[in-house]
Amino acid sequence: MLEIVGDEPLGLVAEICCGRGEALDLFQDKVDSALGVDISINMLAAARSKFISPNFLFVQGDATSLPVIENCIDTVIMFGGIHHVKDRSRLFSEIYRVMRPGGRFIWREPVSDFFIWRWIRAIIYRVSSHLEPETERPLLYSETVPILEKIGFEMDVWQTCGFLGFCIFMNSDVLVFNRLFRFIPGIRKITQIMTEFDDWVTRQRSFRNMGLQVIGVARKL
Ligand SMILES: C[S@@+](CC[C@H](N)C(=O)[O-])C[C@H]1O[C@@H](n2cnc3c(N)ncnc32)[C@H](O)[C@@H]1O
Repeated sequence: MLEIVGDEPLGLVAEICCGRGEALDLFQDKVDSALGVDISINMLAAARSKFISPNFLFVQGDATSLPVIENCIDTVIMFGGIHHVKDRSRLFSEIYRVMRPGGRFIWREPVSDFFIWRWIRAIIYRVSSHLEPETERPLLYSETVPILEKIGFEMDVWQTCGFLGFCIFMNSDVLVFNRLFRFIPGIRKITQIMTEFDDWVTRQRSFRNMGLQVIGVARKL
C-alpha cells in the first residue's frame, strides 16, 4: 500500500468511513491536516481519542452527503468503507465534488472478481451472525471503474492482493475461528510465508485480478 501511494505528500486528507482512523494512522507522516468522516459516533470517539493533534478533525456524516465544501480536499482515502455503501454513483460523485482537481482518491476494499472468493463470501455472509449481507457488497472491477470514469476520475491503479494466506490467516474479522490461530506455535512465521506466497500469486499475470482485496488509486481530472 505504502509503495503504491509513494512519496507524494497527501496534503489535506479526508478519510471517509474512517472508523478509528486506520488510514490516517498508516499515512500520518505524509498528512498535513485531516478530516475523518464516519456515521458511527462510537467509531468517531475512538478516533478522537487516538489523534489528539488539532490538525485532525473527526465529524459525523454520511459518505454520500459529505459535510465538506467543493474542491478543497487533496486526498480522499477509504479503507473498507466503499463496500458498505449501496449507492456507489452517489458516493463517488460526492468524493469527486469535494476533491480539488489533480487530487487522488485512494482505497483498499474487498473485491469479488474471482468467482471462488465471490462464492465463499456468499456462504459466509449467509451463515455469519455478525455480518449483514445487506450492507456488505465487495467491489467488482466491471461495476466500479466505469462509474469512476463516467464521473470524471482517471484510473491510476487497480491492484489486487491477498490470496489463500490472507483468506486463512488474516481474515479474523470475518472468519472468527482463525482468532485461535494465535495459539499455534510459529504462527508469525507461517503468516509471513503465506503473505509472501500471496504476493507471488497475485503478481502472476493470470492471477493478477484474483486477489481478495483491491488497492485502487484514481485521480480527479
Ligand atoms: C469496515 S469499517 C472500516 C473502518 C476503517 N476505515 C478501517 O479501516 O478499519 C466501515 C466503517 O464505515 C462506516 N460507515 C458505513 N456506512 C457509512 C456511511 N454511509 N457513511 C459514513 N460511514 C459509514 C462504519 O461506521 C464503519 O466505521
